[in-house]
Order: sequence, then C-alpha cells, then structure tokens
Amino acid sequence: MVKVITYGTFDLFHEGHYKLLQRAKQLGDYLIVGVTTEEYDQTRGKLNVVDSLITRIENVKQTGFADEIIVEESQGQKFRDIKKYNIDIFTVGSDWIGKFDYLSDYCKVVYLERSKNISSTMLRTKQTPIQRVGIIGTGRIANRFIPEAALVSGVNTQCVYNPHFESAEKFAHKWGIDACKDIEAFYAASDIIYIASPHETHYDYISQALDHGKHVLCEKPMCLKKQQAEELFEYARQKNCILFEGIKTAYCPGFSKLLGIACGGAIGNIRGVEACFTKLTDYNTRELRDTEYGGSFTELGSYCLLPILKIFGSEYERISFEALNNESGLDLYTKAYIRYPNGLAAATCGLGVKSEGKLMISGTEGYIIAEAPWWKTSYFEVHHEDPNEVERFSERFLGDGLRYEICDLLSMINGDRKRDFKLTRKESEAMAEIMEKFLMEEQRM
Ligand code: CTP
Repeated sequence: MVKVITYGTFDLFHEGHYKLLQRAKQLGDYLIVGVTTEEYDQTRGKLNVVDSLITRIENVKQTGFADEIIVEESQGQKFRDIKKYNIDIFTVGSDWIGKFDYLSDYCKVVYLERSKNISSTMLRTKQTPIQRVGIIGTGRIANRFIPEAALVSGVNTQCVYNPHFESAEKFAHKWGIDACKDIEAFYAASDIIYIASPHETHYDYISQALDHGKHVLCEKPMCLKKQQAEELFEYARQKNCILFEGIKTAYCPGFSKLLGIACGGAIGNIRGVEACFTKLTDYNTRELRDTEYGGSFTELGSYCLLPILKIFGSEYERISFEALNNESGLDLYTKAYIRYPNGLAAATCGLGVKSEGKLMISGTEGYIIAEAPWWKTSYFEVHHEDPNEVERFSERFLGDGLRYEICDLLSMINGDRKRDFKLTRKESEAMAEIMEKFLMEEQRM
C-alpha cells in the first residue's frame, strides 16, 4: 500500500485545495492530510486565518479524499509523521518547490502543480474589504508600524497626518504613502486610524476619529484619565467602532502561552507578579523632554501593568508609587506597588536607569520567570522547590511584534469580537486610572 501525506491550512476551502487533495490521493492508496493549528500558523507568520481548526478539518473531510486527518502543530512534525505513519510520498503544491527537498532522504517528495488564480489569501481579501489605515504621528513607533502592517493581509497603510505638514510629507515620502494636509481628507481616506502621537493628544484624536465613524488603534497609554477611557469606549460602542489599545505584548503568542501556563495551575495559586521594563534613552527624546506627560511610568508602565492586571484583575485594594525624579520633576525610576486581597504586585520602570527587564510570577507551588525582554515574550521557565525541576517554554516573537495586534484588530473589525479578551475594556480603563493616580501623586495633574 502506498501511503501519501500532505499538509496545509485549508482556510476558506477552495477549488485549489480540492484539486490538490484529489491529485494527492491519486498518487497512492492511502492519504493522510495534516491540517495546521492556528498557533502553528502564527509561528510561521501566517496570521489571519479565518476558519477555525474544526471547520478546516471538516472541509477536508467533506472532499472524501482523506483516509485520515491529523493536526499539524509544531515545527519538525513532518519528519516525525513520515516515520510514524510509514509514509512513501510527501506532497504539496508547487508554491513550495524546493522547500521540502530535505524530506527526500526519508520518502519521495512530489510537488503538484498549484491551481492558478485562487488562494485563501485572495478569498480573505475578497471576503472582507481592505481596511485602509491612516496614521497620526510620524515618530519611531509609526515607522515601525508600516513594515509590520505590510505583513498582515487585509490592511493597507494609506496616508499620514501630522499637524507639522513637513514631517508628514517626509514620512509619506519615505514609505510611499500620502501625506494629508487637511484632516477631513485624512479621515475620508482611512477606515482605521492608528494614533501614534504624544500621549496627551490621544483623547482628542480618538474622539475625532470616532466622530468620523472610524476604528481606532491607539498607542499606549491610550488615556491618562479613567473617565476619558470610559467615555471613549462608550462612544466607540455607540458608533459601532472598535477602540483598541496597542500594547503589543498582550497580543503576542508567547505572552498568551505564558498567561495560560501561569493561570493554569503550573505554580499553584498566584500570589505575586513583578514586572520590570527599563530603557536607557537619549536626553533629547520626547519622553525626557515632555515635563508634563513624559517620564518612565507613562512611557513604560502600560507594559508592566499588563501582566499584573491580566493575572490579578482590576480590583486592587491599594496602589502606591515611589519615584526618583530629575531636576525638571520627571520620573526616571519608578516603582508602583499594588496590593490585592490575595496577591502583591510591583511594576518597575526606568528611563536612564537600567535594570534586568524580567517578569516574575510567584505562586504557592513555584514561580515563572520570563527573561528580558519579557514584553517580547519568547522564553520563560517554570521553577519549583527542587531547583533541578525546571520546565522551559519558548515561542517566536516575529519582527517588532506589531503584526499580532494589527491582525487581532482586523479580525475584530471583520466580526470576531471575541478577540478583545486579550486586552479588555476594563483592563484599559484600569490602566488609565493607574496613570491618572500616578500623575496626581506626582502633582502633574
Ligand atoms: N494549493 C494549490 N492551489 C492553490 C492554493 C493552494 O494547490 N491555488 C495547495 C497548496 O500548495 C498546499 C495546499 O493547497 O499544498 C494547502 O495550501 P494552503 O496554504 O492552505 O492554501 P493557500 O490558498 O495557498 O493559502 P494562503 O493564501 O493562506 O497561503
């Protein structure tokens, strides 16, 4: 009996998939089809799969060509499957020519001609209109956004606005997009507004974007006052628009894995969370020049508050801050201590003070340590009382990591509102409340 194996995502099942499976089956007597999990696709850079794994498996099954369907969930699995199932032929479409030649040491490799003019990517784009992104702000993060957005199918960065038109023009020229002088023209040309301007301008731009019925992706910290955050989320709800705070860590696969393991009993009941993020910056940067809203906590606090709020929630009992300030009263090294009924948390931020950027989660049966830079979560360990008993986990964090949040935002716009569990409205509001308390304590509000 000749055994054949093939793999794919099979998203939005189409004729190309059908023909591929039909021909794969004809290569032998028994066909095994490996369908990828969403997590595995994410790690290999395929971000916006629409159909669930169950739907994709069901569609493969419906063709009647597969004698057996398996799930592909990790790198290296193909080799293991070939051995495990005694495979004679490995096959995929011709878009993969050469990529699987290494398997020819273990079985025959056949590249079947790919059907022309059809792909899941094409269908995904057809099914949902391309979302045009307009960027407000032209700083460092806006520059990182464009190449990341280019990796997510379904969005297209269209234009940029900056009240200093010269900066907008320079930025637009660099990235081959339009610079808008008139803000009305800017809103008319965009479906999603990405706000990457200084913190204190966020509120006005978000309100304005929502007035125009646009979805909003706003850089952190989205708001510096709780009431403003509540008001904006409510306004977005009324306008049926998505308001999304861009804290990239919340959307990256490694952080999701870490939360799942931490909250899944691996270290017993969680009693402590300590997160630290410090950066040595040039004295000429916005965060060190802006004496009203700059400083280490407004700049980096959102990252450190994220694991605390995700694990312990928004209902803390007490919060206090300690900060070392520079001569203009700007905090350079800040610690926020948060007390919960059953846990203690600390967030440490530094600009111009360097410390180890780690995340430590302590529990009744062990602890989890995520290595620096934990906010780009790619490696963490689970430890127990016995120092020899260590479990190690790793996950990819691709590029600058903004692709993950853009992808989740797009899925939410296209109807999958459940994705907001990664950073809820309540969590964003709690962050704004903490920022507000900090600025009041520092007498900057
Ligand atoms: N395939 C094919 N002809 C097409 C599209 C896909 O023969 N027009 C094959 C692929 O080469 C692969 C299998 O179908 O062997 C599953 O591919 P998958 O990546 O799921 O499909 P695509 O439509 O290529 O998906 P995407 O656009 O997301 O890359």
